[in-house]
Amino acid sequence: MSIASRAKKVTTHTLQEMKHEGEKITMLTSYDYSLAKLVDGAGIDVILVGDSASNVMAGNDTTVPITLDHMIYHAQCVEKAVDRALVVVDMPFGSYQGDSKNALDSAIRIMKETGGHAVKLEGGIEVTDSIKRIMTAGIPVMGHLGLTPQSIYKFGTYTVRAKEDLEAKKLLDDAIALENAGCFSIVFEKIPAELAKKVTKSLSIPTIGIGAGPDCDGQVLVLHDMLGMTKDFSPRFLRRYANLGEIIDLAVKQYIVDVRSSEFPNEDEKY
Ligand code: KIV
Repeated sequence: MSIASRAKKVTTHTLQEMKHEGEKITMLTSYDYSLAKLVDGAGIDVILVGDSASNVMAGNDTTVPITLDHMIYHAQCVEKAVDRALVVVDMPFGSYQGDSKNALDSAIRIMKETGGHAVKLEGGIEVTDSIKRIMTAGIPVMGHLGLTPQSIYKFGTYTVRAKEDLEAKKLLDDAIALENAGCFSIVFEKIPAELAKKVTKSLSIPTIGIGAGPDCDGQVLVLHDMLGMTKDFSPRFLRRYANLGEIIDLAVKQYIVDVRSSEFPNEDEKY
């Protein structure tokens, strides 16, 4: 029996054991009760209440505008739905950088007000003070390296990161610094597969990839993307497992036709 199928509740220790045994970790985003219930019920290991809610839920161009209050609201909705998965909540831009006391206060609010199980934040050596301070309160922290969307105005583009030696070396150093600071896991976003493989091998904590090749310890996708609800977003790494966008479009169109033609509601659908 696999570690994942034995786990009634997934914890950070479950993920550590999975890495140790070479069992792949599955992670998807959720931002609301209804979808989180389906995702948890299907058996996902980790649900990320991602700050991609800024794009997917609120229609912003970047993850920069989403606030701590918004993230807490989404995490509260998700947490009510989840029985088994580990729920990780993204710390939004401005809630942890440059001031470890602010980071601690933000993380405590997330844990206290949402019932989430861990927080995630972006960055390397420059955020290790914040990570260590958050961990003084016993809050597990997941790191995030490579393409870190909160820094989009520094990068200027959402292209693959760490293709050059210097940036690849910094990513390795950052990953080691995050592990030493106490992170229980690290997300690698949009980096070369070979680099992700090398860094994953050199860490004892699990890595979770998105656009980082097959050799990370687990994979994460944005739920709405993999369900085919975001048709304008088609990076190479994205596999669509459903085409809900088309299904919803057809259903809504049919409803409009039925209401306009008085075909809905029919005899059986009235009181
Ligand atoms: O916010 C998010 O959805 C994320 C994933 C892309 C890892 O951070």
